Parts: sequence; C-alpha cells; structure tokens
Amino acid sequence: MATINSNFLKLKAGYLFPEIARRVRVYTEENPDKSARIIRCGIGDVTEPLPAAVVAAMHEGVDEMATRETFKGYGPEQGYEFLRQAIVDHQFADLGITADEVFISDGSKCDTGNILDIFGKGNVIAITDPVYPVYVDTNVMAGNTGEADEKGAYEGLLYLPCNAANQFVAGVPTEKADIIYLCFPNNPTGAVATRAQLEAWVKYAKANDAIILFDSAYEAFIQDPDIPRSIFEIEGAHDCAMEFRSFSKNGGFTGVRCAYIVIPKTLTGKSDTGERIPLHQLWSRRHSTKFNGASYPVQKAAAAVFSPEGKAQVSALIEHYMGNAKLLCEAAAAAGLTVFGGVNAPYVWVGCPAGLSSWDMFDKMLSEAQVVITPGSGFGSAGEGYFRISAFNSRANVEEVCRRLKALVA
Ligand code: MLT
Repeated sequence: MATINSNFLKLKAGYLFPEIARRVRVYTEENPDKSARIIRCGIGDVTEPLPAAVVAAMHEGVDEMATRETFKGYGPEQGYEFLRQAIVDHQFADLGITADEVFISDGSKCDTGNILDIFGKGNVIAITDPVYPVYVDTNVMAGNTGEADEKGAYEGLLYLPCNAANQFVAGVPTEKADIIYLCFPNNPTGAVATRAQLEAWVKYAKANDAIILFDSAYEAFIQDPDIPRSIFEIEGAHDCAMEFRSFSKNGGFTGVRCAYIVIPKTLTGKSDTGERIPLHQLWSRRHSTKFNGASYPVQKAAAAVFSPEGKAQVSALIEHYMGNAKLLCEAAAAAGLTVFGGVNAPYVWVGCPAGLSSWDMFDKMLSEAQVVITPGSGFGSAGEGYFRISAFNSRANVEEVCRRLKALVA
C-alpha cells in the first residue's frame, strides 16, 4: 500500500478560509431568509473589476494567441522578459535588482509554500504570531515541525508574538533563527514596519546567517512615504532576503493569478557540505522543473499595471479600498473597540468586545449582523481576542457593515 505524507495529519482542522466558508454555508442553509443580507469581509478577496488597461492588454494577448504569426506556446518558465523588466523598472528602480532576479508565478500563496522545496531540513524557522496561515501549514506539510499543542502552536517553530504592546511588529528574537517570515504591510494585522525595524531585522539576519522571506503582497496600500515598500530598500538585504510580491491585491488579480519572487543572486544558503550555494540557482532549477510559466495573456495583463493608464487605474482602486479601510476603522472605534491597521493596509484588526473570543465574535457578527469577518485566533494563538475586517468590498457594503457593527456593539 502506498504510504502518505503523515505530516498532513498534524494540520489543525481545515485551512482557515474554507473553514469560514463552511460555517457561512451552514448558517445560510439554516437561515435561508438571511442569506441575501450576508456581507463578506472575511477573506481578503478583491471585489472591483480589473483596471481597463489590464483588460485591454489581456484581450490583446488572447488575440495574439489566435493567429499563427503571433501565437505562443510554452513561455519562459521564469516569465517573459517584458514583464520581468517592467517589474524592475517600476517596482525596484534604483534598488539594485535586475530582471533576471525576478521569477514570475501564478500566485504568492503558491510561492511562499513552494519556496520550502529549496531549503533543507533542520532549519530554525521563525514565524510571527498572528500570521498568514500558509507559512505555518506549508512548514507542517514539509515536515519542519512536530505536533501542535492545545493552543495550535507547532513544536519546532520559533513563534514571535505580536500584540498591542509591540504594535503587532515583532522585534528580533534572542534565539538564533535560520529562516524568518516577515509580512509587511501585515496580513492579518495591517501593521507596517518602520525603516529602523527592518534595519534591525536585516542586521539580525546577517549576524545569524539567516534568510528573511519578505512578503510584501500589500505594498501598494502603503500611504506613509517613510515606510519602506521593499526589503531591498534596506542596506545589506540583498545578501539575506528574498521578496514575494503579487498582482492580486493591487491589480485585482485574485481570479487572474500572477505574482513573483525577487531572489538576488547574492543570496546564498549552505549545502550539506558547508558550501555556499546561490538560492537563485536552486529556485531557477525548481521553477523550470515544476512550473511552465504563467500564461501569456496574464503576463501581458500584469505588465499593463505599469502603463501610465494602468498606474492611474490601480491608484484609484487602492484609494477606493483604503477609503473603505478608513470607514471601517472609524466605525469600529466609534463602537468603542480597539483598532489597529487599516492605515497602510487593507486589513482592519479589531479587539473583540470584552468577554468574547475571536470565534464568539465571528458567530455574533454572522448570526446577529450577517457580516462575515475573520477570527483573529485563526491566524495563531496570539490573534485570540481579535478579529480582522477586510476592506476589499464595494463602498455601499462597507457603509452597511459600519452601520451594522455600530448597532451590534456600540
Ligand atoms: C487573506 O484573506 O488573508 C488573503 O486572501 C489570503 C491570500 O491572499 O491568500
């Protein structure tokens, strides 16, 4: 009989968002009269249509596929040069990144999970708590952890608690880590790291010969010009960090799928024999073997995000979602709740009313206000007592959520 990867058996319950969807489904089955009233602010999924420049470019890409002269089969596994170069020119200008250090993919969720293919066993892996659950679950699947305790914390991971006291930005630990996941602007808390905080992380990584996996999928939502948008703005990061970016939240590509990783050629890890090997080389090999590139029309569409019209249209989308975030922050504060995030990120992180756990609040919001939120404890035990509201929605829905939240809690 074939054996299985028993590490999967260590995973707790279902993945957070399908679990939320399941609970909402059960509620609507039991309360069919309420189902039309439900407003979803749980998963951070965009709601507004693709920017017109993106749509036009995607159409063009499809048209090119329709004639023999311009048809394209397999593309380069690492992505088309036109997109890799556009990313460097528009996102990493003057940051010492070259187009061949950019690897195009079909999503950051896959990238942050798949990256574990190129790391060895026995690394000390540091993870903030609360955290985007993909980082934890993929390490569990890869066998990098032991079992979870009753609070859901996995043996073998180094948890970096984030809380109101540190404004949900983890400081460097006293322990030695080999791999560190950092996400700024943060999902789920909406926190951002200052330049000094990121400098401390780069210093720590260099001192400990560690690698930072920097997830900046929400970079486009930063409003404060002093907050770094890329880890490569920090001196020395090219030797100790790689960065994950996505078109999902800025260009509205959650249903289109396009993302990328930037891996500087100077970033190395150690082989079993102690030799320093560029991670760029390993990921390039991995990508060529297991991935055949994002589709051509999608890459055309992604490049259009950087056209003058695309940039203006993306700015308008960001402004819309950040306007929503502001309203949600104000409503939660007016209801007497403690509010974090929502200023440089599309997520509003809210303290539950006294005496309610995260899942209690989830149930209350669903059953009494028909609003779906994400329970903070779903992101880790340090998220207990909080809930996350996603600002990805129409303005009308957000205004209605604000009214219902105030009526429910205030
Ligand atoms: C979230 O709600 O946390 C995001 O949708 C997760 C993701 O982008 O995969």
